[in-house]
Amino acid sequence: RAAGDPAITEIKDWNRYLGEGVDAAPYGAPSPFEAHVVRRDVPWLTADPVSSVNFTPLHELDGIITPNGLCFERHHAGVATIDPAEHRLMINGLVDTPLVFTMQDLQRFPRENRLYFLECAANTGMEWRGAQLNGCQFTHGMVHCVVYTGVPLKLLLDEAGLKASGTWLLAEGADAAAMTRSIPLEKALDDCLVAFKMNGEALRPEQGYPLRLVVPGWEGNMWVKWLRRLEIGDAPYAQREETSKYTDLLDDGTARRHTFVMDVKSVITSPSPQAPVTHGKGPLVITGLAWSGNGRISRVDVSLDGGRNWQTARLDGPSLSKALHRFYLDIDWDGSELLLQSRAIDEAGYVQPSKDALRAARGVNSIYHNNGIQTWQVRADGVVENVEVS
Ligand code: MTE
Ligand code: CO
Repeated sequence: RAAGDPAITEIKDWNRYLGEGVDAAPYGAPSPFEAHVVRRDVPWLTADPVSSVNFTPLHELDGIITPNGLCFERHHAGVATIDPAEHRLMINGLVDTPLVFTMQDLQRFPRENRLYFLECAANTGMEWRGAQLNGCQFTHGMVHCVVYTGVPLKLLLDEAGLKASGTWLLAEGADAAAMTRSIPLEKALDDCLVAFKMNGEALRPEQGYPLRLVVPGWEGNMWVKWLRRLEIGDAPYAQREETSKYTDLLDDGTARRHTFVMDVKSVITSPSPQAPVTHGKGPLVITGLAWSGNGRISRVDVSLDGGRNWQTARLDGPSLSKALHRFYLDIDWDGSELLLQSRAIDEAGYVQPSKDALRAARGVNSIYHNNGIQTWQVRADGVVENVEVS
């Protein structure tokens, strides 16, 4: 270009003037140019924001860690604002010694750091009957993945002393919903954490400050936030969230219950409806996320033609059990229409099913546990739509 590129030749304000000094923002915030990277809700989904959900902007993120301010939120009765000095965790029921811990007590137990995804069982639930929401933020954004710091639940239960008759645990939240879920003791003793930090800093209020339960690989609803009580019992407690909710009504009128594990799943995050292709033909980075409640992801395949042909994608970044995995397929796009799909396979050998296969097995009554293969149509002009192919 004869005149030269003004991005290079013109003097900009940021060359001319001093910038802000240190401490202009004691707790930092993203660049103002990234102001569009936010959680979003779907206003018509729920009657009121205090019993609602907003969604992680997956299409704007890379790697496998979700920044704290972008983790989707799901509350049944709003965000509890809890003074940690007044917060207690009680353990009662079938134990030798009922115990009450302050936050300080909990921080004197040996702690561990672990990276896990949390997925709401209702993630992708609006897509059971067909393509509906135009963006992976809305179709798949009820998932996040952070490093938790916390005390293994086993240490606290051992401190109280479990009676031999104990087989189940009831976890209860301190919010206005007093959310309660039954968890098999075997899981509680295996890999659950009582966490007080996420990505190194205190839990955010929305994520259960000052204390939440971490139930790796299992449905988000069981990860009780604002955790205040653990009761040991000898049977599941049949609470609302495991009877009328978080069960899967089948075509024959019976319901699957105790469907705790989040099965293998993946989605292409870019290109996607909110992240269209804006650069024409040539090199195109296709990227997405895969995860499984059964462990690590062993392979992700990507199709450019609606599932007729598959190529193995490149997994990049740490591969950790029950955590998000990042995949890429770097292609030379010829500018013609694509029907993008991804299909993940986990270390247990489970293969992500097609939506048709899922509907054949489960019917269309449920909103929970939809891990079917997602299709994005990339048009020649780069616009991307949520579609289904059969
Ligand atoms: N815990 C309490 N106490 N109250 C709640 O409303 N919502 C549950 C679970 N734990 C909830 C709760 C649901 S349905 C999900 S999916 C996860 O928290 C969401 O966690 P997040 O808000 O950190 O994304
Ligand atoms: Co949920």
